[in-house]
Amino acid sequence: MLAQLRTPVALAPMAGGVGTPALAAAVTRAGGLGSLGGAYLTPQALRDAIREVRTLADGPIVVNLFAPQPVPEVTPYAVALATAELAPFHDALHLSPPTLPERVQEDFSAQLDVVLEERPEVFSVAFGPIPPDALAALRSRGILTVGTATSLSEARALHESGVDAITVQGGAAGGHRGGWQDDALADTLTLVREVARATPLPVLAAGGLMTAGHVRAALEAGATLAQCGTAFLLADEAGTAAPYRHALREGTRDTVLTRAYSGRAARGLRTTFTDAVHHPLPFPHQNALTRPLRTAGAQAGQADVLSLWAGTGYRQAKATGTAQIVASLTSGN
Ligand SMILES: Cc1cc2nc3c(=O)[nH]c(=O)nc-3n(C[C@H](O)[C@H](O)[C@H](O)COP(=O)(O)O)c2cc1C
Repeated sequence: MLAQLRTPVALAPMAGGVGTPALAAAVTRAGGLGSLGGAYLTPQALRDAIREVRTLADGPIVVNLFAPQPVPEVTPYAVALATAELAPFHDALHLSPPTLPERVQEDFSAQLDVVLEERPEVFSVAFGPIPPDALAALRSRGILTVGTATSLSEARALHESGVDAITVQGGAAGGHRGGWQDDALADTLTLVREVARATPLPVLAAGGLMTAGHVRAALEAGATLAQCGTAFLLADEAGTAAPYRHALREGTRDTVLTRAYSGRAARGLRTTFTDAVHHPLPFPHQNALTRPLRTAGAQAGQADVLSLWAGTGYRQAKATGTAQIVASLTSGN
């Protein structure tokens, strides 16, 4: 199915507000593979989002979640250090002091139940292999499964786990590192070539693909689809908050790899927050701890407390309609 799409572009799943149903639907309507980053959605919100895409577009879509993993223990000392670093940012926005909530992530099995019921054509995960029972359930419903690799050894492990395709994520990519073994930062095309040679599975190439030339090069390296995220951050249909858009359009900030917002390494624009946080809690605790600050920052127009996820190619992102962006990734320029 991946090889039969009219347009060899997949929208990267983007959890946290950027990846709206309208954006997913627009990419699918343009002949590509739309996707929903559902990791932070409650099961009901995930169901609503999938149904909304279905009302807006006919054609295949991906639903993406984070692979389930044990929640690490955190000591009171670690919590005290992390909250102390956040306190001045809370003060500046007149928020009550930071506290770690009881619930730090959504329940994967409840989210998966929604996926099994709503049956998107494709299901993908970041942060690890799909558990065997989930893989079997997805397969029995005819849902194609995709894992994310940032290195050849992760790609081999995913192949052995029995997934149908692999997203190969290079170091230029915006957002979280999608692997689980280490924070490898491979050159996208080099890793795509290696994985395409080492496994028989279709490859979705991700990381730094911003132009038709990049997409062509990824396909020539052996990818079946180019999976683009940053190229869509300024799309009219994206949910990118106004201060986030402004920082992207300014183009003055470097991208950095940071654990400051979530506790997991992710690439985004440098902020005063990424500079100030040196003792984040492990994921998903830090993500839960910083959520009130990020929500308030978006409302107050304060880009410096937002997680401004962006790949190294962000200055080439186009502020226009999604259909035009898909066209620019597949023809001319
Ligand atoms: C704002 C944003 C959010 C992201 N969220 C997710 C996610 O929820 N799940 C996931 O597998 N990858 C996520 N990613 C990573 C993308 O899937 C993809 O690897 C990356 O966007 C590709 O590189 P590019 O940004 O240079 O196009 C996210 C990326 C961005 C920019």
